[in-house]
Amino acid sequence: MNILTVQDLVVQTPTARLVDGVSFSVRAGRTLGLVGESGSGKSVTCLSVLGLPPRGVQVSEGRILFDGEDLRAQTPAQLNALRGREIGMILQDPMTSLNPLLTIGRQITEMFRYRDGIASRAERRARAIDLLRRVRIPAPESRLDSYPHQFSGGMRQRVAIAINLACNPRLLIADEPTTALDITVRLQILDLLRGVQSERGTAIVLVTHDLHLVRRYCDDVAVMYAGRIVEQGPVEAVFARPRHPYTKGLLGAVPRLRDLQHRLTVIPGQPPQPGSIAQGCRFAPRCPRAQADCASTYPAMRALDSQRSVACWHPEPSAAASDSLLAATTS
Ligand SMILES: Nc1ncnc2c1ncn2[C@@H]1O[C@H](COP(=O)(O)OP(=O)(O)OP(=O)(O)O)[C@@H](O)[C@H]1O
Ligand code: SF4
Ligand SMILES: [Mg+2]
Repeated sequence: MNILTVQDLVVQTPTARLVDGVSFSVRAGRTLGLVGESGSGKSVTCLSVLGLPPRGVQVSEGRILFDGEDLRAQTPAQLNALRGREIGMILQDPMTSLNPLLTIGRQITEMFRYRDGIASRAERRARAIDLLRRVRIPAPESRLDSYPHQFSGGMRQRVAIAINLACNPRLLIADEPTTALDITVRLQILDLLRGVQSERGTAIVLVTHDLHLVRRYCDDVAVMYAGRIVEQGPVEAVFARPRHPYTKGLLGAVPRLRDLQHRLTVIPGQPPQPGSIAQGCRFAPRCPRAQADCASTYPAMRALDSQRSVACWHPEPSAAASDSLLAATTS
């Protein structure tokens, strides 16, 4: 069953389309990795799904279905009630997902009251302390009564994660949830999220620049370029045989990524700015496979098989053995 279905989503400013016809879905208990260079529209997509598009930005077309219900048709109050209860969020800027006016203890214990109906204040506090300990916040007893602004960026991110662990949502939008954390803590926290996911069958959208994490935690992957998804499918299949030249470029960059925080800028050239986009394939100026027809008409997403699709006129051959790429991302 699909928990989240996004269909033909368009998100724009008055002058530019930031997200231009994006479609994907996530089933219960599955994790979709959303990847792509900086500025490709990952965060705008996530924020739009949550009904929180950035200032000056608006969802103009498309459907966003949560459990079959159209989120675009919900009132702000209804959306607010869903967010943080049925729909969890760990955002790139953790302040966006925290309430600045409530202590973090309050934000966590409210979940226990709402979700689990725990009447005892002492028990709720004890559980909150346990959660803060699980996300590796030092001296959690003394931090419960602090406000979000009293935490550093990395600690705030952990607080947001703790709240989402308490919330145990049906859908979790996690936009680079662990970038501020070192690799050991990062893996511990993703394992915690996976534990919650298996308990409730949470559908997760995980945005990350770290393709190693995609390989380890995601079932499916959607590759974004300049506001569109250019390739989509099961992680195993896409990583083993990328069909879009851009995906191939991203994966080819992996072995050289000594530092996992490194931004994916290894493909020569720059993506186009929103608003300056020509009609043909947006990747054409950087594409080693580009031919004359690529620049004239945009290649729509088309199915390669029942699970995979690609937006390219001249995709990489299906049998192009990319075993070296596979090995590189497994290590
Ligand atoms: N409030 C805004 N007003 C106008 N343009 C915006 C706004 N927020 C984002 N954009 C633009 O939308 C595009 C997509 O941005 P977005 O933040 O979604 O990228 P991203 O894929 O999340 O990148 P990163 O990997 O760096 O987080 C970018 O070109 C960005 O400059
Ligand atoms: S459509 Fe053409 S330019 Fe675009 S990715 Fe495919 S081959 Fe490259
Ligand atoms: Mg982002």
